Amino acid sequence: MKNEGERYDLIAKGFAEMRDSFATEQKYIDLFIRHLGDGRKVLDVGCGSGFPIASYLIKQGLQVTGVDASKELLAIAKVKCPDMQQIYGDVRHIAINEKYDGVIEWWCLFHLPKEDHQRMISRFAHWLKLDGILEFTTGDREYAASDSNMLGQELSFYSLNPADYEKYLKKSGFKILLCESDQEQHLVWIAKKIL
Ligand SMILES: C[S@@+](CC[C@H](N)C(=O)[O-])C[C@H]1O[C@@H](n2cnc3c(N)ncnc32)[C@H](O)[C@@H]1O
Repeated sequence: MKNEGERYDLIAKGFAEMRDSFATEQKYIDLFIRHLGDGRKVLDVGCGSGFPIASYLIKQGLQVTGVDASKELLAIAKVKCPDMQQIYGDVRHIAINEKYDGVIEWWCLFHLPKEDHQRMISRFAHWLKLDGILEFTTGDREYAASDSNMLGQELSFYSLNPADYEKYLKKSGFKILLCESDQEQHLVWIAKKIL
């Protein structure tokens, strides 16, 4: 397997059925929209089936492009979330030259090995216009683990320490607007690209 997207291909139907509504996200997605102000163009990194996040953003009038490495989840998104533009590829390597007002990532970064996290933050910065808004999620401490709790599919999970994300965000020209725990062992970050 080249990436976890290929593992999601194997459970795409079940995952999309399970992940069709908000758990704790609503407050943070609404905050993201508020911070975007007049900004309309959003990149959803690891968008999955487009539900529940891209579909909600689109309903609020935003233009969303989703990038994901699961062909099967993108095929479901084509039907369930037809207004989301799609890019298929590994978020660590795919060339995206467009600039966005907002970049959102929810529960995707944690599938990338720890050594990729710093570079992903600089990629988030690269995809944003100046004053653009980033919202992303991480663990609340450093870990590397794998389990098959997701529909029996073995998946890997990683996080750095919050202090590392803070450091990398600052290095990439971000000002942190929020870092909050929305549920056990999980942090939501909102940051503005100021440099
Ligand atoms: C837990 S799901 C989250 C999906 C969506 N963000 C949500 O909140 O429901 C993780 C997603 O990340 C995608 N993914 C994992 N590794 C990836 C990679 N290296 N490149 C692109 N997408 C990846 C998977 O295909 C899957 O859609």
